[in-house]
Amino acid sequence: MAIRTIVTDGDEILRKVCRPVVDFDARLRQTLDDMAETMRNAEGVGLAAPQIGILRRFCVIDVGDGLIELVNPVITEQKGRQEEQEGCLSFPGVWAVVKRPHWVKVEAFDRNGDPITVTGEGLLARALCHEIDHLDGVVFLDRRVDAPDDAKGRRRR
Ligand code: NI
Repeated sequence: MAIRTIVTDGDEILRKVCRPVVDFDARLRQTLDDMAETMRNAEGVGLAAPQIGILRRFCVIDVGDGLIELVNPVITEQKGRQEEQEGCLSFPGVWAVVKRPHWVKVEAFDRNGDPITVTGEGLLARALCHEIDHLDGVVFLDRRVDAPDDAKGRRRR
């Protein structure tokens, strides 16, 4: 395993839409291992592939209940609302109150290409939304409570 360099704010890669994973191969598994190590080393609760410079749809999450790996994840159900403070490993030292659903259901694939379903509420729901947003070039500041709706997904500067 290896610790990868985390892309930070201002890098255009954080604003790109990622392509689906097609090959569930050894390289994907190695990258997932590296992402988990990188996330833990940085004391984060989630990390998405574009944050290490890879424009593919996968991410890792660990909010304290164990590692979750999601490949080609899609939010298929959501309920409720929450507004809590969020940060991002690509925006060191920046925090903002962000609007999220309270509960989400995510359909995805595991590292072997088998379908999985993950549900989460509270912090896990936020992490799932935050990381899946990264795969569409959306960052948490786009969803801060004072952000205009039309700012979603756009580069802000
Ligand atoms: Ni992030």
